[in-house]
Amino acid sequence: MSEESKPEASKKGKGKGKGKAGRGEGEMNNISGALVEQLLKANPSLAGEMQGMDSRKVEEMMRGMNLQDILTGMAAGGKNQKDMASYKFWNTQPVPKFGEDEPSPDGPLRENDLSKVKTVGAELIEGFEWDTVDLADDQQVREVYELLSHHYVEDSEAMFRFNYSASFLHWALKAPGWVKNWHVGVRVTGTRKLVAFISGIPVTLRVRENTLRCSEINFLCIHKKLRGKRLAPVLIKEVTRRCNLESVWNAIYTAGVVLPKPISTCRYFHRSLDWLKLYETGFSPLPASSTKAKQVTKYALPANTSTTGLRDMEVKDLDAVHDLLTRYLERFELVPKFTVEEIGHWLLNGGSKYEERIVWSYVVEEEGKVTDFFSFYSLESSVIGREETIRAAYLFYYASETAFSKSPNAKQELKVRLNALMHDALILAKKFNFDVFNALTLLDNTLFLEAQKFGAGDGSLHYYLFNWGTSFISGGIDDKKNIDQERGSGVGVVML
Ligand SMILES: CC(C)(COP(=O)(O)OP(=O)(O)OC[C@H]1O[C@@H](n2cnc3c(N)ncnc32)[C@H](O)[C@@H]1OP(=O)(O)O)[C@@H](O)C(=O)NCCC(=O)NCCS
Repeated sequence: MSEESKPEASKKGKGKGKGKAGRGEGEMNNISGALVEQLLKANPSLAGEMQGMDSRKVEEMMRGMNLQDILTGMAAGGKNQKDMASYKFWNTQPVPKFGEDEPSPDGPLRENDLSKVKTVGAELIEGFEWDTVDLADDQQVREVYELLSHHYVEDSEAMFRFNYSASFLHWALKAPGWVKNWHVGVRVTGTRKLVAFISGIPVTLRVRENTLRCSEINFLCIHKKLRGKRLAPVLIKEVTRRCNLESVWNAIYTAGVVLPKPISTCRYFHRSLDWLKLYETGFSPLPASSTKAKQVTKYALPANTSTTGLRDMEVKDLDAVHDLLTRYLERFELVPKFTVEEIGHWLLNGGSKYEERIVWSYVVEEEGKVTDFFSFYSLESSVIGREETIRAAYLFYYASETAFSKSPNAKQELKVRLNALMHDALILAKKFNFDVFNALTLLDNTLFLEAQKFGAGDGSLHYYLFNWGTSFISGGIDDKKNIDQERGSGVGVVML
């Protein structure tokens, strides 16, 4: 999961990403002061990292960076300055390296051999032991919740922290086909306290023309007192080993930090629903040219939706939604291949069996046919140091028959339709008391983010594939990290 992201204007000059730039092609050898200035303007995150440095040093550093990496924002962050050799762990893993040529053709980066997979995990440092966290046991779900709620992802200024609820964890980690052994914990020997966690769930992915059985890795978390001790690589190797034991050799994961090497980068966007609350909690700034009243008016929404035929999605819609989404996702390069059962799990709140509602899904039915659907899920963030939470709705999967129009104006028609649907999604999210609606620049989101008054966040989400080489997939942003409506995004996987 990415780092928390806030609207960019709230950022006080700190970069979110970390990483490094590849050497070789695109290296910035003849860089002038004016060009440096221009590049930094295009990459506020990098500018933040370099704030306070003298201009000669900035020029020198940028000279060693790769142009593509600077422009996509990947080069931002403290870790930029280390070269590939410094990724001591990732350098040993089957992942693409910075500076390497793009693979041709696409394929695995390491040979797989089940007979070589170790049957027991590597030894942990004294005082700690491996555990398989049993998520069928509510007490153990509670322990994961406790660990994450105190130690999981925070924003760069430590103002907010994701607060994945127990219901959310049930939903996210017990998707159809879930493997108990892929919920990996580290406990303190003796007290049994859970101090680190990493998880995988099975997913079938299509990466361009190849279909892969993957694990989707998420919720990597280490207790704050155990940070910086190289435990993360041990956890990653352990979950890899457990996936390999099931003959799963590829994985997908996302992070706000730059690691070798993103196959795509999307940007976070935020649409205020309760601007005043977001302002009061420090999530949203008051722009210099505006007033509180103007901001509240800007984000006001009608009380009722306007799309004819819009209604809650029900079990009876499963086949139709599965068919529509499957066809819709064919238009993208990196997508999940869902079964009907998986659609039921992800869109109908796991059969509505949790205490708390996690996902909201709606269909549009016209003359007995489902023509569109959209969904969003709920994820709160704690405001650190206060008894307060921000209730965020995250745009999840959606699809529209309009995407298959044969008209010469097809793209414009899709844009109009998606804007209408997303406007209704905002109205519904507001009705359910969400404070903010978040979305990335993936799927066809570039067609409506600006029109629906989403503002750019300071966070990027980098997508990674383990043991699979493929060339970079557009994440819906251009070289300056601005929305790229023309090219759009090739990413169709929404990660929690
Ligand atoms: C992310 C986290 C587990 C890293 O732990 P840590 O104690 O800082 O790092 P360690 O000393 O154990 O390991 C460092 C190695 O892990 C890698 N690493 C750090 N964050 C990573 C991530 N999110 N995904 C994969 N690898 C990561 C580093 O790049 C480094 O490897 P390298 O030498 O090849 O560069 C820890 O900071 C944490 O729990 N943060 C809060 C939750 C979070 O951000 N989770 C990740 C969500 S994507």
